[in-house]
Amino acid sequence: MKVTVFGSGYVGLVTGACLAEAGNDVVCVDIDARKIERLNHGEIPIHEPGLDVIVKRNAEAGRLQFTTDAKRGVEHGLFQIIAVGTPPDEDGSADLRYVLAVARTIGTHMSRYSILITKSTVPVGTADKVRAEVDKTLREHGAQIEFDVVSNPEFLKEGAAVQDFMKPDRVVIGTDNPRTTELLRALYEPFTRNHDRFIVMDIRSSELTKYAANAMLATKISFMNELANIAERVGADIEKVRVGIGSDPRIGYSFIYPGAGYGGSCFPKDVQALVRSAREVGHQPEILSAVESVNARQKEVLVQKMRRHFAEQLAGKTIALWGLAFKPNTDDMREAPARRIIDLLWQAGARVRAYDPVARDEAQRIYGEREDLVLCKSAYEAAEGADALAIITEWQEFRSPDFERLKSLLKSALIFDGRNLYDPALVKRFGFKYFAIGRAQP
Ligand SMILES: NC(=O)c1ccc[n+]([C@@H]2O[C@H](COP(=O)([O-])OP(=O)(O)OC[C@H]3O[C@@H](n4cnc5c(N)ncnc54)[C@H](O)[C@@H]3O)[C@@H](O)[C@H]2O)c1
Repeated sequence: MKVTVFGSGYVGLVTGACLAEAGNDVVCVDIDARKIERLNHGEIPIHEPGLDVIVKRNAEAGRLQFTTDAKRGVEHGLFQIIAVGTPPDEDGSADLRYVLAVARTIGTHMSRYSILITKSTVPVGTADKVRAEVDKTLREHGAQIEFDVVSNPEFLKEGAAVQDFMKPDRVVIGTDNPRTTELLRALYEPFTRNHDRFIVMDIRSSELTKYAANAMLATKISFMNELANIAERVGADIEKVRVGIGSDPRIGYSFIYPGAGYGGSCFPKDVQALVRSAREVGHQPEILSAVESVNARQKEVLVQKMRRHFAEQLAGKTIALWGLAFKPNTDDMREAPARRIIDLLWQAGARVRAYDPVARDEAQRIYGEREDLVLCKSAYEAAEGADALAIITEWQEFRSPDFERLKSLLKSALIFDGRNLYDPALVKRFGFKYFAIGRAQP
């Protein structure tokens, strides 16, 4: 089938590559000429395990093409997938400017029946706006062409995006037209073969489903962080509590890890946008507002622990930071807890020596050259001469370090662990003072 994907970011590129891998003929369109140039030279602009191999294979086979030529894109696909960004507007609502720009582009160049698929995360009612925008543009050109708009929210996780797309837990389709349902079922059939993972509903419910999923996951994280702060103060160990409640199948083990707060390009903006949507329709979303404020506070917890330990004298201290990406297996630093932590450390007059297995270039891009930030090539290099080590992202390679070596590199044997990676008794045996989240403080 002929597919066009607008936006070649985390979602668009993975979608395009995976659909090509299934044998479809895919054209990816982006307005970022530099990104398209890199993709056309076989470079993958993001870190996503497994993506390079399938992009290369399908580009070489001619099934996956990259272009900035929107007209060519519109003329190509029966399916026109919209996977552009929906960043937060100043008031927290989702900024639909990029989505609607694509709708206008499609309306401008469309010459035959097309199915527009919104894969970007968009508030309820966006499909109507997309339809109105295409209608308006067609009218301006005096054209009368039939088209459909379908909601198809994406649930992939950065760091496991290819795997998630290839074997989705579910494919949600919001449509009011049985014909498009069948066409989309055929498009997704290669990925939903094992089980019937195809869930069809009305457009508005589909749009809301994506926000509901992310808000639920963010709620689990903030709930656990709230509990961690209580545990620490009443002398309980949140890690024991986690295992104790996770064993209940109604609760489950996933997304109940306490830590330094959630980040990334989705949870923060999607919770905010849902709060905004709720207020617009006259509902005060108490839980969602608390999820947000608990998370903002949680990003500061580790630095508060450092301030207390150093008796408010962080000025002139050097902190080694392990982990910059908002989670492991990605180089994405959007809304990453590390960014808030770095800002707080700088405000307090501290310097940072940071290491991340893949986000170094991204950090360089964000911060440029600064004398209070050294971006290191290894975890141990970051620890050299630092007054303390802070762990922000739970990368696999941080889980079992050489504690003797670490101790010899640090100025003092001090660990502030924002991800509870270690057994407190073990690190204590190596002579460290170990501050973690929701556990007894030394
Ligand atoms: N990143 C994720 O893990 C994830 C998961 C599920 C859903 N989503 C949602 O998917 C959408 C895209 O997210 P992302 O992380 O891939 O964003 P991204 O910022 O990585 O990529 C967006 C791309 O769209 C391009 N673009 C902007 N305007 C365009 C236009 N008019 N025509 C063509 N391209 C255009 C940009 O240049 C950019 O390359 C968002 O709504 C997001 O909430 C993201």
